[in-house]
Amino acid sequence: MRKLPTYTMTSTILVTGGTGFIGSHATVALQQAGYSVVILDNLCNSNPSVIEGIERITGTRPAFVQGDVRNAQTLDTVFTRHAIHAVMHFAGLKAVGESTQIPLAYYDNNIYGSIQLLSAMQRANVRTFIFSSSATVYGNPTTLPIPESHPRSATNPYGHSKLVVEDILESLYASEPGWRIARLRYFNPVGAHPSGLIGETPQGIPNNLMPYVAQVAAGKREKLQIFGNDYNTPDGTGVRDYIHVTDLAEGHVAALRYCEKADQDMLTVNLGTGEGYSVLDMVAAFKAASGRPIPYEITKRRPGDVASCWADTTLAKQKLGWAATKGIKEMCEDAWHWETRRTMPG
Ligand code: NAD
Ligand code: UD1
Repeated sequence: MRKLPTYTMTSTILVTGGTGFIGSHATVALQQAGYSVVILDNLCNSNPSVIEGIERITGTRPAFVQGDVRNAQTLDTVFTRHAIHAVMHFAGLKAVGESTQIPLAYYDNNIYGSIQLLSAMQRANVRTFIFSSSATVYGNPTTLPIPESHPRSATNPYGHSKLVVEDILESLYASEPGWRIARLRYFNPVGAHPSGLIGETPQGIPNNLMPYVAQVAAGKREKLQIFGNDYNTPDGTGVRDYIHVTDLAEGHVAALRYCEKADQDMLTVNLGTGEGYSVLDMVAAFKAASGRPIPYEITKRRPGDVASCWADTTLAKQKLGWAATKGIKEMCEDAWHWETRRTMPG
């Protein structure tokens, strides 16, 4: 019998939204773990120059397809051209406030987009799916730290879109054998790659705390508005579970490996650090990391904000053997490095 050549088999992962903030860091982590990556992104909230950053960090340029997850033909072409082994689905819209103004765009992108992608996976017989969910599905938490069993609710179209996709995945898993699904509920991803080559690029005025603070430190914004200091928290400002984006990215690789080992499975897991920090804690940490003043004023509460939110991380440790390793010092240092490298060259 003729001896077949030996190939080094590399699994190929389709990363939708791979030029975005979290998807780009996940692409780095996947490539560094030995996977090949095909990115599908329509660039509605990212820039193709991110590919250069990924290549410079890893030495490998991921394949890139500019296209929309809502386009069945694009998806079929991707699955035909590449031997995709699993899908990480980051593509979607993510701004809570905007979702109340243009809800249909959120349902279309996040729900219809996920349905189109899952349908294409069925056609291509690819059944390993890692989904970007959010701690927003816990609504106003009644238990801290928050376990995965906490009741779910949504108060805005963005959160609702995540709940619906979580439910769609549950129905799909029950409907046919062989699916390996991870629903990953992120807490507050912040920071950037320590190289300063990739990070978060908010469009316009940042909605989230960390990018806003970074722009105040850089002198691009006059001061931070702290949304309320009358919460029932140690210093009165909101408390969150901030997680370094590279830790989050490693959590995805761990979830993929978990799925790969199973014949079929449906995993729902928190990705956080298990520690809560207040807005004032973050301001102090960023001031120390940047060496810059962070002027702020206390303003009224932001509608929809909760007082405190941090993760129970027990299940992630048990199931994935994964835990976050970086603290707020590194989160702030890396966010600052990215901010200065990107916008204040020299
Ligand atoms: P991001 O906006 O930086 O990245 C999303 C990427 O998806 C962008 O590059 C965008 O161009 C692309 N995209 C959007 N719609 C698309 C479509 N229809 N087809 C193809 N590409 C499309 O956001 P992120 O912070 O990296 O978030 C990634 C995922 O994680 C999102 O699903 C988000 O809801 C979820 N999530 C994010 C956070 C967070 O704080 N960043 C928290 C919880 C969950
Ligand atoms: C927000 C979203 C959440 C989403 C997450 C990550 C809301 C209500 N929730 O979470 O669904 O998953 O982003 O994208 O929008 N803060 C200030 N001043 C600012 C900005 C924020 O004081 O300019 C405070 C907030 O009140 C909060 C903390 O900083 O206490 C963190 O805010 P943010 O970064 O927006 O994240 P979340 O509100 O936790």
